Amino acid sequence: MNATTTDAVPAIELRGVTQRFRTPSGGVYTALRDLDMTVAPGEFCAVVGPTGCGKSTTLSLISGLKAASAGRTLLHGEPVTSLDRRVGFMFQTDAAFPWRTVLDNVAAGPRFRGVPRRDAVAAARDWLRRVGLSGFEDRLPHQLSGGMRKRVALAQTLINEPEILLMDEPFSALDVQTRQIVQDELLGLWELTRPAVVFVTHDLEEAIALADKVVVLTVGPGTVKDTFAIDLPRPRRVQEIRFDARFVALYERIWTSLRDEVRLAYARTAGVDKGAGAMDAAATPADAAATPADAPAPATSLPQAPTPSDDAEVH
Ligand SMILES: Nc1ncnc2c1ncn2[C@@H]1O[C@H](COP(=O)(O)OP(=O)(O)OP(=O)(O)O)[C@@H](O)[C@H]1O
Ligand SMILES: [Mg+2]
Repeated sequence: MNATTTDAVPAIELRGVTQRFRTPSGGVYTALRDLDMTVAPGEFCAVVGPTGCGKSTTLSLISGLKAASAGRTLLHGEPVTSLDRRVGFMFQTDAAFPWRTVLDNVAAGPRFRGVPRRDAVAAARDWLRRVGLSGFEDRLPHQLSGGMRKRVALAQTLINEPEILLMDEPFSALDVQTRQIVQDELLGLWELTRPAVVFVTHDLEEAIALADKVVVLTVGPGTVKDTFAIDLPRPRRVQEIRFDARFVALYERIWTSLRDEVRLAYARTAGVDKGAGAMDAAATPADAAATPADAPAPATSLPQAPTPSDDAEVH
C-alpha cells in the first residue's frame, strides 16, 4: 500500500452513508446503506461492484452533486456541502464541447476559473504535450480517435490540478489495447500531481493494475464488502503487470469476493430476485425468492489466469 495512506486526515471519508431515492411509484429505493470508505491523500482507490450497486451514486456524493440521505461525507476533514473546485470528475462519456478545438476545450477549465486567456492557452498546450497530443491543438473532438479523445479528457481534467480525482468507468468504451495504453498514461500523469483517486470500473484487471487498494461493494443497497490492498510495486506497466504471479493471486482473491455479488445482481436483472433488500416500500414477499445459491451463473466466470480479454467485466 502507498505510504501516504498513513496520513492522519483522509482526502475522502464516507461514514455511515445511506442514499435513498423516491421512485416514480411513490416507494423508497435504498441505493447505498451504511457505507464506510476512506481514501488517503495521494492514494489510488478503485471501486468495483455489480451493476446498480451504487458506484456512480458514491461518486456523486463525494463530488457534492448529491447530498446523502444519512451519514457524513468529508473532504480533507471538511463536510461536503456543494461542488468543490478541488475535485475533478471524468465520466464514461466525453465532456468536450464538440464545436471547440482541442486546445480551447483543454483551456476551458482554467478560463472558467478566471485564468487569463494567454496563460490558460499556454497551460493547455503544456497538458496536450503531456498527453501526447502536440500537433492536434486545432482539431475538433470528432476529428480524433476514441483514445485521443480520452487523452483530451485527461488533459481537461488534470489541467485543473484536482486534489481529488473521481473517474466513472472512464475507459470502458475503448478497445482493450487502447485502454491499456491510456491506463499507462493515466498512471504516469497521476504520478505528476498525485491526487487522491476514486476510480470506478467493471474491469477487475484494470482496478488491480491501477490501484493502491480495491474496494468491493455489495449488490444494492451498496455497502463495502471487502477492501484489498494492492501491494504491487510502482511504477507499473499495465500491459505487463497482469502476468505477475502476485497480480494473478490478487485477482483470484478479489474475484472470489466479487463473484457472489455479481451473481446476485444477475439474478435480479434476470427477474429471479427483484432486489427485495433495496426496495423498502414496494417489495413483496414473492420478490425475495432467490438466494445466492439459487442464482444462475453470470456470463462471467473465474478464469485460470487473467488475460487481456474482458472476463472480469461484470455488466
Ligand atoms: N435519481 C435516482 N432516482 C432513483 N433511483 C436512482 C437514482 N439514481 C440512481 N438510482 C438507483 O440507484 C441504484 C444505484 O445506481 P448507480 O448509478 O449508482 O449504480 P452503479 O453501481 O453506478 O451502476 P452501473 O455499474 O450500472 O453504472 C440503481 O438501482 C439506480 O437505479
Ligand atoms: Mg455507474
